[in-house]
Amino acid sequence: MAPSPKRKHGVTVNGIERGGFLCLVLIFVGPAIYILHFPSDPVHQPSSTPTLSGPVDLRAINFAWNGLDFSEDPPPIHLRIAVFCRKWPVSSSPGGMERHALSLYSVLAKRGHRIHVFTSPVGGNVSADMPSLKVHFHEGEVGRWIASKAWEDFLEENKSEPFDVIHSQSVSLPNNLAKGMPNVVATWHGIALESLYSFIYQDFALRQEKEPFSPALSKSAAAIVPTIIKEIRFFNNYGQHVAISDSCGEILRNVYQIPSKRVHVILNGVSEDNYHMKDPRTASRFRSKRHIPENAIVAGVAGRLVKDKGHPLLFQAFSRIVKKYPNIYLVIAGSGPWGDRYRELGKNVHVLGPQNATQLGEFYSGIDVFVNPTLRPQGLDLTFMEAMMSGNPVLAPRYPSITGTLLVEEYFGFLFEPNVDSLEGALVAMAKEGREGLAERGRAGWEYAKKMFGGRKMSLAYERLFLCIKDDKYCEFP
Ligand SMILES: *[C@@H]1O[C@H](CO)[C@@H](O)[C@H](O)[C@H]1NC(C)=O
Ligand SMILES: *[C@@H]1O[C@H](CO)[C@@H](O)[C@H](O)[C@H]1NC(C)=O
Ligand SMILES: *[C@@H]1O[C@H](CO)[C@@H](O)[C@H](O)[C@H]1NC(C)=O
Repeated sequence: MAPSPKRKHGVTVNGIERGGFLCLVLIFVGPAIYILHFPSDPVHQPSSTPTLSGPVDLRAINFAWNGLDFSEDPPPIHLRIAVFCRKWPVSSSPGGMERHALSLYSVLAKRGHRIHVFTSPVGGNVSADMPSLKVHFHEGEVGRWIASKAWEDFLEENKSEPFDVIHSQSVSLPNNLAKGMPNVVATWHGIALESLYSFIYQDFALRQEKEPFSPALSKSAAAIVPTIIKEIRFFNNYGQHVAISDSCGEILRNVYQIPSKRVHVILNGVSEDNYHMKDPRTASRFRSKRHIPENAIVAGVAGRLVKDKGHPLLFQAFSRIVKKYPNIYLVIAGSGPWGDRYRELGKNVHVLGPQNATQLGEFYSGIDVFVNPTLRPQGLDLTFMEAMMSGNPVLAPRYPSITGTLLVEEYFGFLFEPNVDSLEGALVAMAKEGREGLAERGRAGWEYAKKMFGGRKMSLAYERLFLCIKDDKYCEFP
């Protein structure tokens, strides 16, 4: 019988104020017990994923596969993999799920697996063109996904040679078609129970206590619970499940009632080619270009500047503290309705607008700390990973996905509850910490991030999962 280590959640001691003693305990019930202890010493050691004592069945582990060291050697066999994905990236700035798909399947194709992607028709040029990666655009209107058409294309392709594994990005492959096929894997980028959390956080943060629910709000609130229950029923039709955060894995096991051995946590990675430890010279240039003093503390925000990303909270919290701490600056990469509001806050705020990849790299080098006040805890916001991969500490809301996967050490940044007072408190703690302290936290987070969040690690983990689905003998690690 395979060992079944279980992870208990990390417990962090100490608050934002002192940033001293931190202790994370990972407890594994079963053959192995690991304790990671962080000393009170200000030089923090990087967090590490447990080293397993002896072989383990990968289907039995509950923690993220990304922390395991999978071999870079050529795979033992080459798989034929079908992918269902509503949209294939064609533009220069694809969305999160599309970027994830492109980087994952490119790596797998380079490693010799034969990938067939079934997707909706596109207008522009296709960015992936590789001998072992074939993209099938179904017939019809550009950008409109029709699963039954993609399914027809799949059946045609399956006739010539059957597929070893079928990977569905969320519900791209409908559950009635997936039903009964043990070799289907669905990756969940966000599930309905998480959207219920979003609803709660957003409503609490944005609606005044005395303000009544609007009819639209009441309607969407009432719709969420039946949606969750529907998901609990139909998710079971998919053979294997990938959760992209530790907390989503817990929900799938504990609330969605999917047997543990069919739930696997593989975090979406970000490309290690694009995000590196920040460079001090780039940082100086970034500041001088904007007349930001060298000793200022620069907090950075990136993404769409909309209400549900928490900008009303950050706006209020920052407007309170900037009076007391004139040395704090806020630099904002991205655009949206809140851009103009931020400009009202005066010279300590720089709204940069949308940034391309080069500019985003400079942004992550130029800031001292990354702030993301999001009120949407669905999935896992990749900007946190990008910031940590660039050596920045992060200010993040205390959501299960964040404490379970990103700030596994509170030392990697500052947590706040998603309300103005708590965010203000975190900003004050950040200000008191000073640049050097922040840089140290950023370095500790970077050590963890490069081990856990790399895109290559993610791809090797998926490869191993697909191999394990093809043949049990590949389920044993190492
Ligand atoms: C596709 O790429 C070709 C060559 O790279 C270019 O000439 C053409 O304009 C592109 N088409 C579109 C729709 O972007
Ligand atoms: C794919 O082809 C194999 C082999 O012919 C067959 O057993 C399987 O049922 C096919 N899959 C589907 C979904 O039709
Ligand atoms: C990004 O924009 C800057 C300024 O417009 C430009 O100099 C740079 O070449 C661009 N980089 C990329 C990767 O597009």
